[in-house]
Amino acid sequence: MIDLALVPVAGWGTRMLPATKSQPKEMLPVGRKPVVQYVVEELVNSGIRQVLFITGQGKSSIENHFDIDAPLITYLRETGREEQLQELQFEREDVEYFYTRQRRQLGLGHAVLCGKAMIGAQPFVVALGDSIIGLNAESDIVSRMTAVFEREKADIVVCFEEVAAEDVVHYGIAKPQGTVGEVFELADLIEKPSVADAPSRLAVAARYVFSPVIFDALAETKPGKGGEIQLTDAIRILLKRGHKGIGVKLADNEQRFDIGNFESYFQAFVEFALADPQYGTALRDHVRKLLG
Ligand code: G1P
Repeated sequence: MIDLALVPVAGWGTRMLPATKSQPKEMLPVGRKPVVQYVVEELVNSGIRQVLFITGQGKSSIENHFDIDAPLITYLRETGREEQLQELQFEREDVEYFYTRQRRQLGLGHAVLCGKAMIGAQPFVVALGDSIIGLNAESDIVSRMTAVFEREKADIVVCFEEVAAEDVVHYGIAKPQGTVGEVFELADLIEKPSVADAPSRLAVAARYVFSPVIFDALAETKPGKGGEIQLTDAIRILLKRGHKGIGVKLADNEQRFDIGNFESYFQAFVEFALADPQYGTALRDHVRKLLG
């Protein structure tokens, strides 16, 4: 049973400046909660009990967010604010948190490699801290992926979402082997190809499961796209050597919300706010009015 997830949150978030100048993009709110809280809640619902954050400079508010804030709890209790107290329930999730810093910004692959000493010889999940899966993170994709990992005796399981042709340039793109169902075999993976070179429109959607052999591949991975050590390139090394890689597709009602750029951040915020049980209906009327 895989119960350990590595969550990289060290990226600078340059595509979201100035919002991310002095706060992590993972702490931007989408509706009521910061992005990274949705990520952790999703992982906990899929059986994860240990979360290792790979953080970096300027990211300490993430650590603060998952602390148990005793003075605040006492204050809310003593002043009878039971409703607000409920909002801190996530602090009590049955999870252990670990934090280590990526001390140099050398890419996503390097960030994952920073977890090697702690993870050792166990299989583990990687969940990117800037992506929410499903409205309000109501997705069990990670438990579906870990089930496939165990059943297929794979070394790599990657989550995919079908994207528009012009969007392949933003993602790792799958070259599937054989027919593509909900679960399919991976022949290759290409980081941010041009539209012409993309072997499919299946884009890596921020969730992975790995056996520890990924660390060997990462240690050998040379800087790739953007001069960074790419997780995609380490996966390629393993696939070329005959290690088994499986793709799992998100369901139609399981959208990935990418909080790495303003376009999809705005869309995510609006969608989550419209679904808010308290304010959604009024917001819908307001937006209708604005749109004339
Ligand atoms: C990373 C990965 C890419 C993946 C994307 C979203 O890119 O390198 O393969 O498709 O996350 O999961 P980034 O968004 O860090 O540029």
